[in-house]
Amino acid sequence: MKTAVVFFSYQGTTRHIAHAVAGEIGATPVELEPVVHRRSARERATFAWGSHQIRMPAPLEITHDDYSFHSADLIVVGTPVWGGSMAPPVRAFLRNHEFFRRSFALFSCYAGRAGNAIPHMRDLLIGNSIIGELALREPRDGTLDAVTDEARRWAEALSRDLFGNERKEASGE
Ligand SMILES: Cc1cc2nc3c(=O)[nH]c(=O)nc-3n(C[C@H](O)[C@H](O)[C@H](O)COP(=O)(O)O)c2cc1C
Repeated sequence: MKTAVVFFSYQGTTRHIAHAVAGEIGATPVELEPVVHRRSARERATFAWGSHQIRMPAPLEITHDDYSFHSADLIVVGTPVWGGSMAPPVRAFLRNHEFFRRSFALFSCYAGRAGNAIPHMRDLLIGNSIIGELALREPRDGTLDAVTDEARRWAEALSRDLFGNERKEASGE
């Protein structure tokens, strides 16, 4: 059973969670990077760049070094909530690939309201199966221990479901 964790993170929370989830399910994390962001990350304030991206009508160009998700049996996708939805690089990722009949699990990290990030990701994945969803509220004090534990438990349950199914298939049930 091959798994992949694909995510975007601007301020590090989603990255931290993605790495914890990947560790739990034995996946290599694949970080999405906006090409423009790479060029000018240091020059722009987070909210200015992010708010601009949310309003951008044109598709965002993204890059990532790893394509292992193409052969994964489960693709976990993680996003920060931006403007009540998924962050633009994650939207670009889901739009750039014609996923069909694949298994996905979706998570979001947010500061105030989870909004529609997960429902919007689901809308872009019609024809696929969504086997898990998790919205994590980033604590105000910045300590990520509790949400990381929650994410690990979620990932552990996903992994149990997957490997359980694999065992059933192997035994012909
Ligand atoms: C441009 C921008 C827009 C955001 N919009 C929202 C929002 O609509 N709702 C919310 O709860 N948090 C919002 N946040 C906060 C992030 O979702 C939250 O801090 C998240 O955990 C950050 O993940 P990251 O550290 O992986 O980038 C926004 C942050 C940025 C930078």
